[in-house]
Amino acid sequence: MYLTKEEERMLNGEYGKGVEKAMRILVTLGDIYNAEKMIPISSAQISGISYKSIGDAGTEFLEDFANSGVKVRVTATMNPAGMDLEDWKKMGIPEDFAKNQLRIINALTKMGVIPIPSCTPYFHGFYPRFNEHVAWAESSAVAFVNSVIGARTNREGGPSALAAAITGRTPYYGLHIKENRAPKVAFKVNTNLVGILDFSLLGYFIGLTAKKEIPFIYGVKEVSAEELRSLGAGMASSGGIPMFHMDNITPESKDFEVPGEVIEVESKELEDVREKITTSEDVDLVALGCPHLTIKEIMNYYNFFKSHPPKHKVWLCTSRPVKEFFKNQGIVTELEKLNVLVVADTCMVVAPLEEMGIKSIGLDSTKAAHYSRNLSKLKVKLGKLEEII
Ligand code: F3S
Repeated sequence: MYLTKEEERMLNGEYGKGVEKAMRILVTLGDIYNAEKMIPISSAQISGISYKSIGDAGTEFLEDFANSGVKVRVTATMNPAGMDLEDWKKMGIPEDFAKNQLRIINALTKMGVIPIPSCTPYFHGFYPRFNEHVAWAESSAVAFVNSVIGARTNREGGPSALAAAITGRTPYYGLHIKENRAPKVAFKVNTNLVGILDFSLLGYFIGLTAKKEIPFIYGVKEVSAEELRSLGAGMASSGGIPMFHMDNITPESKDFEVPGEVIEVESKELEDVREKITTSEDVDLVALGCPHLTIKEIMNYYNFFKSHPPKHKVWLCTSRPVKEFFKNQGIVTELEKLNVLVVADTCMVVAPLEEMGIKSIGLDSTKAAHYSRNLSKLKVKLGKLEEII
C-alpha cells in the first residue's frame, strides 16, 4: 500500500509506540482489503467500550494505548458504555463492574476521546458532511451516516476505529469508494409504516433478505430522522448491512441505477419477523432507546407515562446531553417516581443485565431484541410501547 512520508514516519515509530501500533493495525487492515492508500478522516467513533463486551483483555489493551501517551488526532466519540456513568447505582450495576467500566472510560478520555458514550452522536453535534470520510464503528450509526447524510465510512471494529482516531487515517477501500456504494437489490414497501418499530422490523427483514447487498428502498411515504435511525439499526443487526439507499432520502441515490431485482414487502413480512423474534409474554424490564432516544422521543414518552404509569420498571436509554436537558427540567425526577429511569451513556444490550438478575425484557427495537437474545440470552417481547408495557 502506498504511504505518504508522514504515514511512514508514524509506522516507523517516529511519533511513539502508540501511533506506531495504531498505524500497524491500519496497514494490516488495508493489506487484507487491498487498499491502495490511506485517506484522511475527519472523525472517528469508537465501539467496544463496555466492560461487558471487552472484559479485562480489552480494558488492558486500551490502558496500554493510553499509557503510551498517545492522543487522538481527529474528533473521536465513544459508543455506549456498560452503565450510566453517574447514576449506575440507581441502575443496580455491580460495584466491581462499575470500577472496571470507569477504567475504560478513563483510558479513552486520557487519549482525548470525548466522553459522551452514545450510538447516535449525529443527534448531538457530531454530524459529518456529505462525501466526508470518517471511521465510525457503531453499526447503526454507520448506516445512518452512509445512507442519510452521505458521509463515507466502512463498519469499523473498535480497534480499527481507535487506530483511525490516533492516526487521522483509514485505508481507502469498501464504502469509501463511490462505485462500492451502488445498490444491488430493491425493496418495494407496499405497507404503511407507522412508528419506529415498523421501521425497525423493515430493516431487520431487509437485513435477512438482502444477502449482504446494499438495498434500494422505495414506497415509503413518510419517514422521520428517528425512524431512519431505527431502520438502519435493524438491517445492520440481522444482515450486517452498512448502508441503504432510500428514494428521496439518500443524497447520492440518483447517481446509481435502480436494481432490477425487486422484493415486495407487505405487512405480513414484518409481522412474521416480530413473531419470530418474540420469545416471552412476561417481562422483568421494559427498555426503550435502541438506538439512543432523542429529546422529541423522551418528551413523547414522558407525556405517555404521565397518563399510563407502567406496571414494570422502564429504562429510557439516551445520551448524556439529552439526559441533562431532562434533568434540568425536573423531568428525570418526575419519571423516576413513575418507575421510569432515564439511563444515559449505556443501553440494554451493553449493560450487564444478566448479572443484575433480569431474565426477560420488553423492547421496541429489533436490534436490541437480536442482541438481547443472542448475546445476553434473555427472553424477549418485541412490540409497540402499548403492547410491551
Ligand atoms: Fe445503541 Fe445499544 Fe442499540 S449501542 S444501537 S442502544 S444495542
